[in-house]
Amino acid sequence: MHIKSLLLIGIILAAFTVTNAVAVDGGNAGKGKHLLKRSCAGCHKRGGEAEVIKAEEKTMRQWDRFFRKAKRKHPGNTFKEISKRDKKDINQYLFDNAVDAPSEETCG
Ligand code: HEC
Repeated sequence: MHIKSLLLIGIILAAFTVTNAVAVDGGNAGKGKHLLKRSCAGCHKRGGEAEVIKAEEKTMRQWDRFFRKAKRKHPGNTFKEISKRDKKDINQYLFDNAVDAPSEETCG
């Protein structure tokens, strides 16, 4: 009995930690992957004006910080012109595949 309740507490704590780690709330990573190609890869490509974007180049936290400040690192209005919704999805995709993200990709 005692062990069971400890286990339950453990599960609740683990669930909380997982939810807590997802700082980008409700973005659609699947869509984000495509949007990244559409909205970002025009410049971020081999031989383009900026480096190819790799999700694993940053940590989850760094990606979230990047999306808060990205406007300033980008020429003119390029970043502002991408809709908030799209950026959230792209942010989610990069976050989910960040260097320190728990990898699900390898399972599927
Ligand atoms: C109009 C061209 C253009 C578009 C569109 C664009 N970028 Fe950039 N981006 C740049 C340039 C130029 C830089 C600065 C040079 C560099 O770091 O390669 C840059 C820099 C960056 C950096 C490096 C900055 C850092 O501190 O790590 C990241 C990451 C990035 N962009 C992500 C994105 C994402 C994500 C999108 C799409 C939502 C995007 N960019 C769309 C041109 C663009």
